[in-house]
Amino acid sequence: MDHGKNRPTSLEIAVNESKSFSKSRAMSEKAHRLIPGGAHTYAKGDDQYPEQAPGFIVRGKGCHVWDVDGNEFIEYGMGLRAVTLGHGFEPVVEAAYRQMQAGANFNRPATIEVELAEAMLQLIDGADMVKFAKNGSDVTTAAVKLARAYTGRDLVAICGDQPFFSTDDWFIGTTEVNAGIPDAISRLTLKFRYNDLADLQALFEQYPGQIACVLMEAEAVTPPAPGYLQGIKDLCEKQGAVLVFDEMITGFRWHIGGAQRFHGVVPHLSTFGKAMGNGFAIAALAGKRETMRLGGLEHDQPRVFLLSTTHGAETHALAASLETIRIHRERDVIDFLWRQGERLRKGINQVAEGHGLGGYFEVIGRPCNLVYQTNDRQGKPSQAFRTLFLQEMIRGGILAPSFVVSYSHSNEDIDRTIDAVDQALSVYARALAEGVNRHLVGRAVKPVNRRYC
Ligand SMILES: Cc1ncc(COP(=O)(O)O)c(C=O)c1O
Repeated sequence: MDHGKNRPTSLEIAVNESKSFSKSRAMSEKAHRLIPGGAHTYAKGDDQYPEQAPGFIVRGKGCHVWDVDGNEFIEYGMGLRAVTLGHGFEPVVEAAYRQMQAGANFNRPATIEVELAEAMLQLIDGADMVKFAKNGSDVTTAAVKLARAYTGRDLVAICGDQPFFSTDDWFIGTTEVNAGIPDAISRLTLKFRYNDLADLQALFEQYPGQIACVLMEAEAVTPPAPGYLQGIKDLCEKQGAVLVFDEMITGFRWHIGGAQRFHGVVPHLSTFGKAMGNGFAIAALAGKRETMRLGGLEHDQPRVFLLSTTHGAETHALAASLETIRIHRERDVIDFLWRQGERLRKGINQVAEGHGLGGYFEVIGRPCNLVYQTNDRQGKPSQAFRTLFLQEMIRGGILAPSFVVSYSHSNEDIDRTIDAVDQALSVYARALAEGVNRHLVGRAVKPVNRRYC
């Protein structure tokens, strides 16, 4: 990484006049020496942000964060969408702290494991049993293993239009970053297109009796066509495959019962994580007793080694999750997310129209999970324009890799964001006319899942 080695351009100097990132730059050099990728999650890495960006966060409160240089930002999509209530959200922090004082981990299960299991199962339609873990990747992988054991089949069908399901080989083997993963494993995962039932039908015909499960998000950015999700479920049941909904993003966001409740289609297994614990490490595999019981001790079939880790039921993460669920129920958090998202979407669209940017800059997705698309002069998706937009938003005090709101985004935060978007899009419009490189400081961002650095 070449941080701060190039001579600053005049624009860089201008940007630096408003915000300094010198401590971030120094720390970044050290981080890249000590940590492969300079971060413990690729999606947080330097290559995902402009050069003029906060490199390291020191603290957060609500939807505000402060970086190592002392700059303050309003943040969106906090903690990779895990922090749905807000940073340092006091009732959750206090619940976790109380539990920490009573002990984090014992030789026998803690009572809170049963309490949270009950609370989760009240929320998830059709799930009779649940098992906790630390990461979303672990629970989607567990769902795949359980489906394979239940059906006696090896192949897995995943939705190829959706970006991420797990850090494990059965999924990463299908991406560009597949170094170190045997082909024999990657070949067991097949892909189908979203909103195209015939495409999945064709996979079942090509591999009769071989597909163990169909794994997908019920909805990512594009809503399902009428009848599509029910069609998927009917097809799975006809073909003897297990339907798994990955609710990592949709859970605790589309609806407290997830996208399955929102769309009224109940899968056989579902996986939750992220917002379940407002940033504390907790994830869950939930599903029908018929399948989940194979991970139990009361059957005469071969046992499935289903999620058994030292830290899987760390008590304070479970306490954080119980409190998060209580807050959701008490304060109608979901309704708030949709309302604030809608306020933001309306405001940004008005501003974008004002700059004549229809077709170039667009906010898309459900109000509770807004993302944006940046197109170049030819109307094609552009990483350079994405970087420019991020750069200008950062200049305006907003850290927005998405526009995913939290329960802490007040009207004032939303309105400040719309003002910053207005400023950022005026630069965007000039860059469309004059060329993006005249306005962009340094290199463009790159896709997370790419083969070479
Ligand atoms: C839809 C989806 N599934 C699974 C995962 C993996 O979750 P984790 O990063 O907690 O392992 C993610 C993470 O971004 C995700 O977005």
